[in-house]
Amino acid sequence: MILLSDESDTARLARLLARRLPQGSVVLLSGPMGAGKTTLVRHLARALGFAGRVTSPTYTLMHTYPTAGGPLLHADVYRLPDPGALWDLGLEDALADARLSLIEWGTPEAFAADAQVALEPAGETARTLRLTALTPKLEPVLAEIERELRARPD
Ligand SMILES: Nc1ncnc2c1ncn2[C@@H]1O[C@H](COP(=O)(O)OP(=O)(O)OP(=O)(O)O)[C@@H](O)[C@H]1O
Ligand SMILES: [Mg+2]
Repeated sequence: MILLSDESDTARLARLLARRLPQGSVVLLSGPMGAGKTTLVRHLARALGFAGRVTSPTYTLMHTYPTAGGPLLHADVYRLPDPGALWDLGLEDALADARLSLIEWGTPEAFAADAQVALEPAGETARTLRLTALTPKLEPVLAEIERELRARPD
């Protein structure tokens, strides 16, 4: 568990994820409303070079943003009664082409993701962070990101 003391730490996490996550990684973002899931996506989009606006895909379910390494995909199915609807939207094809896919969703077992990023509010601007590898190849990657986050500065 790592403490992010304010949004600048979340931005730093985003830069490390952008630098270290392999092409095509699928990452679940979990945590309660206002934890900072969409905010992390916004910083990741910046870190990957997308300069435009990043908004929550709550009603559209899925947004993609162009980056040099391929599309950044952002889906939010947290409060969707039937997450299967994402497949109807062509999620699988989109995942295959993406530089990185970020899915606001709480249940790792329901989905073949590579990693989970869990954020929990711990005050006005503080958030606790848990990084979990869901595939062995990401274990060393996430361990390195944790090490870098603890070491500061980047
Ligand atoms: N350390 C932090 N990291 C991320 N966001 C933070 C932090 N501190 C404060 N915030 C603020 O908390 C809010 C997080 O909102 P955000 O929409 O990202 O949450 P969310 O987890 O996506 O919620 P939802 O479940 O409603 O989609 C933003 O207003 C952001 O500026
Ligand atoms: Mg959100």
